[in-house]
Amino acid sequence: MRPKVVAGNWKMHMDLESGTQLVRDLLGQLTDIKKSRVVFCPPFPLLYPVGELLKDSEFGLGAQNLFWEEKGAFTGEVSASMLKSVGCQYVIIGHSERRKYFGETDETVNRKIHRALTEGLTPIVCVGETLVEREAGKTHEVVQRQVEGAFQGLSAEAVQNLIIAYEPVWAIGTGKNATPEQAVEVHQLIRQILNQKYGEGIGENVTIQYGGSVNEKNAESLLGQPDIDGALVGGASLKADRFAAIVRIGEQYS
Ligand code: PGA
Repeated sequence: MRPKVVAGNWKMHMDLESGTQLVRDLLGQLTDIKKSRVVFCPPFPLLYPVGELLKDSEFGLGAQNLFWEEKGAFTGEVSASMLKSVGCQYVIIGHSERRKYFGETDETVNRKIHRALTEGLTPIVCVGETLVEREAGKTHEVVQRQVEGAFQGLSAEAVQNLIIAYEPVWAIGTGKNATPEQAVEVHQLIRQILNQKYGEGIGENVTIQYGGSVNEKNAESLLGQPDIDGALVGGASLKADRFAAIVRIGEQYS
């Protein structure tokens, strides 16, 4: 069985004081997590202090974005090696908010994945359809295009070392999560796409999280599915009790 990976995407929330306090609270509450993986993805300025707090724990640290170039005159951008140097092991790539507000495309997502892997970071690659696309019956087409575009030029080995987050855009921040059936259907589709592209069995080795309005109440129905390997949690990751409850459910099913 693939162990569940529960990641908290803080987005543009928290500051030094509230962010470090949240992590301290969670470290205090989650002393019994052994089988599942937990990842904190704070905004850039909080990576280092949060990483320092996590140092002696099993919990991972992830960024929410990176730039694909190694270094240079790219004002405002952050490189993979910088993220590594402050303790990151993960990086979210291609979140729908980045696609929507910052013009990210399957091509830029692909470049970022290559850079992250080159530097030894584990990408958490986000894919998912909008409501209009779902209602037009285009979910499969959109997810297939995003997965194939994101993974251009990647070996089967590389693909098995990254994480995919299926995040239907209509479920993000709306309080309207996908049903377990809807999520499982797309997770299975993604595994099929990977099997076709890389060979039978590869899709089954890839960790695929679900994201979109995951909370302490619906986490059991989602994480209880063998095809759902974890959760990328936004709003509910900002409160220690709520995030801890989701992490515990992930542990229970790992
Ligand atoms: P949400 O966000 O849990 O607040 O819906 C999830 C995400 O965008 O990763």
